[in-house]
Amino acid sequence: MANKNLNAAKTAKKDEFYTQLEDINNELRHYREHFRGKTVLCNCDDPRVSNFFTYFAYNFEFLGLKRLITTCYKNQDMDLFSQNKCEQAIYLIYDGDKNGNNIPDAEEIGIHPLKGDGDFRSKECIELLKQADIVVTNPPFSLFREYVAQLIEYDKKFLIIGHQNAIHYKEIFPLIMENRLWLGYGFKGAGHFISNYEDNATAGDHREGMIRVPGVHWFTNLEIKKRHENLILYKHYTSEEYPHYENYNAIEVSKTADIPYDYDGAMGVPTTFLDKYNPEQFEIIGLAEGDLGKELGLKPFDRELKKLNKSLRDGQLFYMLNGYPQKPYSRILIRKK
Ligand SMILES: C[S@@+](CC[C@H](N)C(=O)[O-])C[C@H]1O[C@@H](n2cnc3c(N)ncnc32)[C@H](O)[C@@H]1O
Repeated sequence: MANKNLNAAKTAKKDEFYTQLEDINNELRHYREHFRGKTVLCNCDDPRVSNFFTYFAYNFEFLGLKRLITTCYKNQDMDLFSQNKCEQAIYLIYDGDKNGNNIPDAEEIGIHPLKGDGDFRSKECIELLKQADIVVTNPPFSLFREYVAQLIEYDKKFLIIGHQNAIHYKEIFPLIMENRLWLGYGFKGAGHFISNYEDNATAGDHREGMIRVPGVHWFTNLEIKKRHENLILYKHYTSEEYPHYENYNAIEVSKTADIPYDYDGAMGVPTTFLDKYNPEQFEIIGLAEGDLGKELGLKPFDRELKKLNKSLRDGQLFYMLNGYPQKPYSRILIRKK
């Protein structure tokens, strides 16, 4: 399955899959006003093959950019699927069209060597990061935690692609909770990335030369309209329909669309809620999962309960149904404002 491929990509650090121009365009059209007069950095992008470079170079004047910087990692090879064998890397600087043809010509793009391999964590790449106002890329999923930590440390605006698993990371979720990072508009269904990894998508969903990756999202700290749109709530609260958890003072809401309009206490909702999250409408209390769940003070399960439901894990919510403890898959605790 494609999920298996993604897991393989994570574990084997197979990070070589490339974003389609169409997907970049679909997301970036919601952010145009942020780019005027700004320096954009794409720091996991071989500029000669990256569609992020293509997007910003060809839309440089349209967006009113000040400068575009792209760095490549361990690669001076034109082959899209190179194995990162070359230890030296380059970066490009593009300051816009000079000859009036509105196309980024080779002589208008400054190519500069990097001393090292172009690792986004290296000193020279951090110097480039400092020059940037907004970082936009699809970074290696295997280094997502470090990648985001660095953006936060240097107080950068960003729009990056990541996997939905990252929402559950204990380094990432607190940023979501504190409204320092949120989800962008996203992909329509699964993402399809240019790659020569084996694709196990069904025939109907297979695209030649691509790998299907479900659960990919755009993560950003740039303001977008969607984030200020209220979710329309139409369901009335009843204690029968919304069971109360046994180990936290909150009710179970199994579908985001079913959040009741007349319940003012804490509610456990699926993580897909984040796609509809408007911080003016809701407050996020925490993630009822693992260490973060334990921090919320969820009581550990006693032996008797575990005998009744062996899948119970500490740090997760549960409610009783017909005498048996039920554990929802993964829940974010929220409250209406
Ligand atoms: C998921 S791919 C996406 C590539 C490109 N940003 C795109 O969207 O088409 C992630 C890229 O990050 C590069 N990479 C891996 N480790 C890196 C590091 N430590 N620093 C910078 N880039 C890295 C990989 O070589 C790979 O090309």
